[in-house]
Amino acid sequence: MNCGGSKENDLEKAYNLEAEETGWFGPEVVFGLSYRYIKPGQSILDIGTGTGLAALLYIRAGLKAHGMDISERLLDICREKQFESLVRHDLTRTPYPYPDGSMDHAVCTGVLNFFDDLSVVFSETSRIIRPGGLFGFVVGDRYGDMSPRIEIEASESSSKEPVTMYRHGRERVREWMREYRFKELRTLPFTVYMDRGRQRDLVVRAYLAEKLAAS
Ligand SMILES: C[S@@+](CC[C@H](N)C(=O)[O-])C[C@H]1O[C@@H](n2cnc3c(N)ncnc32)[C@H](O)[C@@H]1O
Repeated sequence: MNCGGSKENDLEKAYNLEAEETGWFGPEVVFGLSYRYIKPGQSILDIGTGTGLAALLYIRAGLKAHGMDISERLLDICREKQFESLVRHDLTRTPYPYPDGSMDHAVCTGVLNFFDDLSVVFSETSRIIRPGGLFGFVVGDRYGDMSPRIEIEASESSSKEPVTMYRHGRERVREWMREYRFKELRTLPFTVYMDRGRQRDLVVRAYLAEKLAAS
C-alpha cells in the first residue's frame, strides 16, 4: 500500500539528506559489523526505524524486517518499503508488542543517544530476540571526563527545539549487556557530525552483541 504523498517524500528526502550531510553512517556500520553472522530469511526488528535506513540494508541482504517507531509520519514513509510489519510504539513503554523470542535479531541506530537509561530497551530486546540472535546498536560514546549530557540549542537542532542527548561509556554499556544476557561480539567507535556544516563532531560507538541462552 502506498500511503506516502509528496509531503512524505519531502520528509524522507530531507531526513536522508541530513543523515548524509552529517555523516550518519550508523546503519551501515552496524550492518557491516553484523554481515558475517546474518542469513537470508532471518527476521530483524528495527527499533526507532525512522525512514528505515538500517532495516533497508538487511532487507537487501534477504532478511525480513519489522519496524517500530513512535512517529506515525515516519512509519508512513516505511509503508512504501518492503517491511514485514510496522508498529507505532514508544520504546520507553513496556511491553513492546512482540512475543518472547519472536525475532532472530534487532537493531537500534540513532536512537539510544536520546535516552539516559537504556535498561528498558535492553530488557525488551533481550526478551524479543532468540538466544544466539544479534543486537546491533549505536550509542554516544563517553570516555575520560566527558559529561554524560549534550545540550543542543534550539538554533542548532533540526527540530528547532532545545534537545538533550546522552553519552554512555563502555563500562556502563557492558553492565547493561551483562544484566540483560548479551555478550559483546564486536565494537567500533566512529565520528558523526551534529550539524550540516560539520563544525561540531561527536564520537559514537557501534556495538554488536549476541543474546545468550538462559542458564
Ligand atoms: C535520528 S532517528 C534514527 C532513525 C534510524 N534508526 C536511523 O538510523 O536513521 C531517531 C528515531 O527514533 C524515533 N524515536 C525517538 N523517540 C522514540 C521513542 N520514545 N519510541 C520510539 N521511537 C522513538 C524517532 O521517531 C526517529 O525515527
